[in-house]
Amino acid sequence: MKWEQDVYCIYLLMFPSIPMTSSYDQILAIMRKRCSIRYFSDAPVDHESLKKILEAGRISPSVENVQPWHFHVIVDTALKTKLMETSCYGNFIAGASVFIVITCDRLSSAEAHCILWNPKEMEYSCAMAAQSMMLLATSMNIGSCWVSLHHGPAHSVMQLEGHQVVVGGLMLGHMKKSDEATPCEHQRKPMESIVTYHEKPKKKTGR
Ligand SMILES: Cc1cc2nc3c(=O)[nH]c(=O)nc-3n(C[C@H](O)[C@H](O)[C@H](O)COP(=O)(O)O)c2cc1C
Repeated sequence: MKWEQDVYCIYLLMFPSIPMTSSYDQILAIMRKRCSIRYFSDAPVDHESLKKILEAGRISPSVENVQPWHFHVIVDTALKTKLMETSCYGNFIAGASVFIVITCDRLSSAEAHCILWNPKEMEYSCAMAAQSMMLLATSMNIGSCWVSLHHGPAHSVMQLEGHQVVVGGLMLGHMKKSDEATPCEHQRKPMESIVTYHEKPKKKTGR
């Protein structure tokens, strides 16, 4: 297309040393770069970066677009420590610059235009927001890790209302200098073991 060629020429003139990759490559590179970071440097995540990460959560997809999430931003070490004590596999929460507890508002199902056939999808929506935030954080060189929180204890520590369900927590922080250069190792199942192509049945030939 003509306009795309023009844009590319202008880009090459302006940034001759930076290769222009497609958004597919850029997004996949960020996905590959993301890995769970559990130990952080002492450098705080600044407010502007935090706002950008929260914006990524805000614009995430949700069932019937009910946006059932609420993001509780916690920087207070005492509260982070209390939540750490409620977690099974999160004995590092207090070391994160920011801990975001993601809750799902059960009442938001009333905002759906259709019946929500699968109420669990409200919480799945919150998980979508978590993934968006983790990827956006990665794009800004901010490390992240989801931490499982048991609804009951975390709910009492946070003094939440009954209609709020604790979905999980997200640690955010800057990586330690020593870890920055270490590429993430993703140990994943091979594609053929997780994908099944269900092809359309072939049409009968002949009579
Ligand atoms: C729903 C969910 C719950 C998780 N809970 C914890 C947790 O409690 N503690 C923890 O250290 N990591 C937790 N993780 C991170 C996983 O351990 C991690 O994503 C997985 O080992 C793959 O590694 P990677 O994120 O570095 O690719 C959780 C991840 C997800 C998606």
